[in-house]
Amino acid sequence: MSQYECVDLTIDGDLATVVLNRPEKRNCLSPTLHRNMVDALNEVAAEKCKVLVIAGAGDAFSAGMDLEQCFLEPFDDPEKFNEINQPCFEWFTHLRNFPGVTVAKVNGWAFGGGWEIASICDIVVAAEESVWGLSEINFGIFPGGGATWSYAHNMTRKQALYYALTGNTLTGKQAVGLGLATMAVPLADLDAEVDKVVADLVGKGRAVLRKTKEVYEKSLQMTFEESIDWEMAKMWELSRETNDDWIRTALKSFAKREFKPGLQSYKLTNDV
Ligand code: ACO
Repeated sequence: MSQYECVDLTIDGDLATVVLNRPEKRNCLSPTLHRNMVDALNEVAAEKCKVLVIAGAGDAFSAGMDLEQCFLEPFDDPEKFNEINQPCFEWFTHLRNFPGVTVAKVNGWAFGGGWEIASICDIVVAAEESVWGLSEINFGIFPGGGATWSYAHNMTRKQALYYALTGNTLTGKQAVGLGLATMAVPLADLDAEVDKVVADLVGKGRAVLRKTKEVYEKSLQMTFEESIDWEMAKMWELSRETNDDWIRTALKSFAKREFKPGLQSYKLTNDV
């Protein structure tokens, strides 16, 4: 476990867990926390973990940017303002492009930057009771630093603008219907549900997890015909990277009726 001042990082085999750890301040994102996250994500990337879970300590996921330390205090010194906020954009971008699967475990408050962290993760498991808000409008700005991009990419226009324009909150249960969360469970079941999701992911091959994300993201920018080309090229690249494991191990095993691909994964022998 790496103990940073505002972040706890645990690496256990293929799973990395990062806990935003300022519970007394509802895990709002201070300059120190931003710098800690830059380092923590670099650490996880170097370990090539398959899955990264981001969680919050105490009763919050994250109350967003530290409004005092990131905005109010450095405001009159533009150089300092930039210096303080740049690491935030750096780790948000790293998270958005992370090669491993990112899972947000949203236990409680998720405002502004906290909402954004969840939105840029691949999978979100939320407590039904968690409370989400784009509260920027409540103090006179619009969602910035990638927050507009992330809410606009997760919700339909009518829902997105309603929450951005009113600042009204929604629950984790509602977040599923709005496209912000993958699933919601009672808070008491949150740890167990995340463990189940992680177990499913860790059982899959590292290269295929990475490629699935990469091909999904790229395909969104292509025509159907372009995407067919791209998908097939990437398929052969994956095949090469894994020594054709899908044919030589998985489908050979299927031919011997050793597993049912519709219901389970093959036994990984070559997890590159
Ligand atoms: N920035 C700075 N300090 C914060 C933040 C924040 N975003 N959120 C909470 N805190 C501090 C509080 O000021 C308080 O500090 P204190 O103990 O020194 O008085 C402490 O954390 C605990 O907060 P409370 O308000 O007492 O906790 P409560 O559980 O009653 O309420 C809530 C939680 C609803 C999250 C409330 O703290 C709040 O509204 N926070 C701001 C949320 C927000 O709008 N964030 C900005 C999003 S926009 C963006 O990220 C760019």
